[in-house]
Amino acid sequence: MNPINHVAIIMDGNGRWGIKHKKSRNLGHRAGLNTVERIIKSTIKKKIKHLTLYAFSTENWKRPQNEIKFLFKLLDSFIDQKINEFNKNNIKLKIIGNINVFNKKLKKKLLKSEKLTKNNNRLQVNLALNYGSKSELINAFKILNKNKLIINIKNIEKNLYTSNIPDPDILIRTGSTNRLSNFLLWQLAYSEIFFEKKLWPDFKEGDYNKIIKKFRKTKRNYGNI
Ligand code: FPP
Repeated sequence: MNPINHVAIIMDGNGRWGIKHKKSRNLGHRAGLNTVERIIKSTIKKKIKHLTLYAFSTENWKRPQNEIKFLFKLLDSFIDQKINEFNKNNIKLKIIGNINVFNKKLKKKLLKSEKLTKNNNRLQVNLALNYGSKSELINAFKILNKNKLIINIKNIEKNLYTSNIPDPDILIRTGSTNRLSNFLLWQLAYSEIFFEKKLWPDFKEGDYNKIIKKFRKTKRNYGNI
């Protein structure tokens, strides 16, 4: 059976869920947050050590201001409400992405949360915020160039936001869209990808279990036979 160290998720479909339920896109995001909590609990139960969640991409700034504002308010209150519980449950929070452009208060809160939970080791939740794989790679190449380091796999990986994080074994994308949307393009080179029809707020533990079961049976060749 294949071991699982890392599951990454593109949590797509919140907006459509809100509209489908005759509510707003923003209420879809709020419903999506309930799924986040469910999936974190379930990942702990499965004894998987890393969960990476795509919460805000470098391209999401194109969205209407009211939606962006709502997403950041949701993030802010999620941290306020959950960080102590994370810590109590031995969960480590790590942010991947460029948070330097966030307002000072939120940036400070995120850094403080990372610091508070840095020694926890039951589950590491990697929250992708203002994350874009292409800018992550450019950033790594720039560091190598500046320090006159050779371009090889080891040096590139050392300078990605995900250094010290194993590559995802599994990528799940909900919301019946089959694309990667600038998410972990380097790290997903050999991941098994599962496109799920359900919208993120409708994604339940049973759906997660089915994917895990299917993955366990997959033969991973890594270019071999
Ligand atoms: C994609 O769905 C989802 C996002 C861009 C945001 C994801 C955010 C959450 C799940 C809630 C906040 C999470 C945290 C951890 C604070 P979409 O809006 O693109 O959906 P659509 O394809 O139906 O429009």
